[in-house]
Amino acid sequence: MPAETAPPAGSGDSVRQVEALREEIRRHEHRYYVLDAPEISDAEFDGLMRRLQALENEHPELVVPESPTQRVGGAPRAGVERAAHSSAMLSLDNAFNEQELRDFDRRARELAGVETLDYVAELKLDGVSMSVRYSGGRLALALTRGDGATGEVITPNARAIRSLPLSIAPETAAAAGLPDAFEVRGEAVMPRKAFERLNARRREAEEPLFVNPRNAAAGSLRMLDASVTASRRLDYFAYMLLADGAPFKESHWEALEALSAAGFKVNPHRARLEGVGGLLDFRNRWADRRDSLPYDIDGLVCKVDSAALQRRLGATAKAPRWAIACKSAAEQAETVVENIDVQVGRTGAITPRARLQPVFVGGVTVSRATLHNEDEIARLELQIGDRVLVERSGDVIPKVVRVVEQAAERRPFDMPAACPVCATALVREQDEAVRRCVNVNCPARLKESVLHFAHRTALDIDGMGESLAEQLVEGGLVKSLADIYDLTAEKLAALERMADKSAENAMESIARSKTVRLPRVIYALGIRYVGERTAQLLAAHFLSIDGMFAASAEELEAVEGVGPRIAESIRDFYAAEQNRTLIERLRGAGLQFEQEPPPRGSEESAAAAGKTFVLTGALPNLTRGEAKARIEAAGGKVSGSVSKKTDYVAAGEKAGSKLEKAQSLGVAVLDEATLLALLGAEEQPPA
Ligand code: IVH
Repeated sequence: MPAETAPPAGSGDSVRQVEALREEIRRHEHRYYVLDAPEISDAEFDGLMRRLQALENEHPELVVPESPTQRVGGAPRAGVERAAHSSAMLSLDNAFNEQELRDFDRRARELAGVETLDYVAELKLDGVSMSVRYSGGRLALALTRGDGATGEVITPNARAIRSLPLSIAPETAAAAGLPDAFEVRGEAVMPRKAFERLNARRREAEEPLFVNPRNAAAGSLRMLDASVTASRRLDYFAYMLLADGAPFKESHWEALEALSAAGFKVNPHRARLEGVGGLLDFRNRWADRRDSLPYDIDGLVCKVDSAALQRRLGATAKAPRWAIACKSAAEQAETVVENIDVQVGRTGAITPRARLQPVFVGGVTVSRATLHNEDEIARLELQIGDRVLVERSGDVIPKVVRVVEQAAERRPFDMPAACPVCATALVREQDEAVRRCVNVNCPARLKESVLHFAHRTALDIDGMGESLAEQLVEGGLVKSLADIYDLTAEKLAALERMADKSAENAMESIARSKTVRLPRVIYALGIRYVGERTAQLLAAHFLSIDGMFAASAEELEAVEGVGPRIAESIRDFYAAEQNRTLIERLRGAGLQFEQEPPPRGSEESAAAAGKTFVLTGALPNLTRGEAKARIEAAGGKVSGSVSKKTDYVAAGEKAGSKLEKAQSLGVAVLDEATLLALLGAEEQPPA
């Protein structure tokens, strides 16, 4: 125990005393918040904190950001700042039943070329993902997932989470085998009790309630004032350890053990399992245990254990091929279908929707459910007035499962023959289940396109919600997406329900959208099948809209994650004259049509410009796609075969004939580290 009285200012004694006290507090924080096994009472802990605070007040020169008193230190964040992820933060594909899990295992084994796979199974925590970087033993940067390529900087908020270490002692880091700089990815969750207490307080204060713990965690983590985050009890579970954007340990299991040894909270409900049989056992054991946990989960996550095999399997544009989420059966509830209406989507697809008597299911109140298409209504034998079972899982749109009881007075629903908005006759193509409004100028389609264009994940035009988009389209102010850039504050202010201030704000964010970077501009265009991640890959590859639209189908398919379906859709988009006009008008408006290749900066990267590379074997950290993207970003070319024209062969594990050929031709052979040094792009993510 540290001494009771503080010695005079600046003495070596006070330095030692402050440090000893911090060490002790850190140990108790770890026992309390990470291990759930406190050794001392809350009052004793508070006493230690007060002593440290008093000493720091007396010796302000001794205050460091890693002190436990500094969890809620700094001033509020000034605004939203974004930073690039070290490598993409992807999402997960889902398996909803045993067969889908078996399919996943089979595909992974085939791709990896192995008989059986070892897995790690974990809980899928229902919170908010967060990446945290440490450097020199200190918490340096925390980011939200954001769009997967860049996230919001939330470092002060992360510091307010008590189960997240602010610093890691060198001996601890060494014992856990961690490098000097590493990154942890994991989930911030709000325990159910904390959620209930928070909502009870808000109810009393007549403040709006949070719908579920996940929303409460998301809201709390993104507060500009981190003292609010600190006042809400958030927890952080680490589930991934990276260095330079790639798995650091040879197996996922070892990574989890290292994180735990370093003082991170790692969820105890995890298992290292053999084959799909092991996964199915784990899944059965968890079938009805989720309610016994103090926090929400929305399924399990199964991950291939070996880091080498993870690299071999790689990822699609959206999700890794080495992991899958097993979603527990969706939650269901009964209610009545009060009416059925239809919605016109961005692509003209007409979707019937059930209007429901509001019912609480899967954590939220639901008053609408999708019915997909007319065949589905026929299959369900559903009529208006019927009592139905609806289900909702995670963020999936609620759907009607079956009719529970037919109403005495029921009314059949007839799909309209014409678009309910523009009256154009609907078309149902031969192999399609949906009817479509084929009028490209249909106001309903245009409204959906405007909403997509302006969405937070696209051009982020604040204030361009349902109501404004509808008024703009209906009033004829917006007949094409490009018309958004011809709007003026006066035109907007003349609209109903539009105050001068809101009009000004909207104009400001329209102006700001001209600075939004290329990947989001590509995404905003609403090209079919081009989602956020594909747009990022396209931007990183072509560096311009013109480059993308000038590309042949073959060139498009050379981009990682782009297959024939996406390539065709991009080419179809540009083949339509009104889309080419749109592109020209958006260019005229000043949107970002290009992006700089990642900064090279160093002399070495000039060494890569114009050079031809061949990749062979598995590199320890980079996937093929990442290596290719980095070479191209540095101005190099990647070719499939080795010849006299090849400048470099980058060879990894199990490199075969290409390596031999390079050696026989005297072509320079690089390992991953030398390749990265040559590219001068160590810290540069591919997108
Ligand atoms: S691993 C490449 N492990 O689920 C993605 N994710 O749908 C690897 N999540 O955004 C993620 N618990 O926030 C992983 N034990 C767990 C998880 C987990 C929750 C979340 C994560 C991610 C989402 C994917």
